[in-house]
Amino acid sequence: MPSKELSDAIAVVTGGGRGIGRAIAAKLSTLDATVIITGRDERRLQQVANELGVNGRRVHAMRCDVADRGSAEEFGERLRRDYGRVNVLVNNAGIGGPGGLFLHQLDPEDWDAIFNTNLRGVYYMLRAVVPLMIATGAGHIINISSLAGKNPLPRGAAYSASKWGLNGLSYGVAEELRDHNIRVSVVCPGSVDTDFSPRRQGKDTSRMLKAEDVAHAVEVLVTQAPQSFMSEILLRPTQKP
Ligand SMILES: NC(=O)c1ccc[n+]([C@@H]2O[C@H](COP(=O)([O-])OP(=O)(O)OC[C@H]3O[C@@H](n4cnc5c(N)ncnc54)[C@H](OP(=O)(O)O)[C@@H]3O)[C@@H](O)[C@H]2O)c1
Repeated sequence: MPSKELSDAIAVVTGGGRGIGRAIAAKLSTLDATVIITGRDERRLQQVANELGVNGRRVHAMRCDVADRGSAEEFGERLRRDYGRVNVLVNNAGIGGPGGLFLHQLDPEDWDAIFNTNLRGVYYMLRAVVPLMIATGAGHIINISSLAGKNPLPRGAAYSASKWGLNGLSYGVAEELRDHNIRVSVVCPGSVDTDFSPRRQGKDTSRMLKAEDVAHAVEVLVTQAPQSFMSEILLRPTQKP
């Protein structure tokens, strides 16, 4: 893969229909990758693919529920059939669950939804995509975690635990795949100004990170020189919002 841009790359962005995922998809498409955005809301995905796919940029929409094993396996099969390879996988899809609850108040169904999306979903996507990358002999996998995966998050303990888990998964898989020339990196942003973040209420949103800041971190990772492996980026706002 050329080190400066991605003209021959196939890139998958989970949760690419809005927020951070959309900004990452936009960034990768400007680097000339063919970008496949996934999510559950097919109509929104198609609309975003149309909006981003201008000026010769290639953005394709494909439905995939990362928390659903069958959906993820079907998606992997479609990738293999339609594209034959994947060079960049950004595991961005994630949910926060109901905010403001102590862990003992959290409904077990919400616990399952958080872990099935944020952690099991990444595992399913790796199962779908890593064999294609190994066959190609190279790849970038970027897992969008959170500073909540580095720090305690009272009233968000399940979300925080899912991201601590995602970090641990990423470090282990990074070592598993290094010999295949596949770099697995984690990006841990603080609060980003998207619909995801109820905590932005009462905050100075002009100081908050923007989705484009996370996309920039992804750009830095995918444009590294071949011998360089930046394994983790912690992303904070310059001033506390
Ligand atoms: N915003 C923040 O403050 C912040 C800070 C640190 C880290 N993060 C992380 O950044 C990532 C993106 O956050 P965001 O702020 O962009 O959130 P967002 O605006 O709520 O977007 C979440 C995305 O995930 C997708 N998604 C959710 N469940 C899915 C599933 N089961 N299968 C496939 N796609 C699914 C959604 O698409 P559909 O609804 O179409 O499925 C949507 O595109 C998350 O992993 C989040 O934990 C966010």
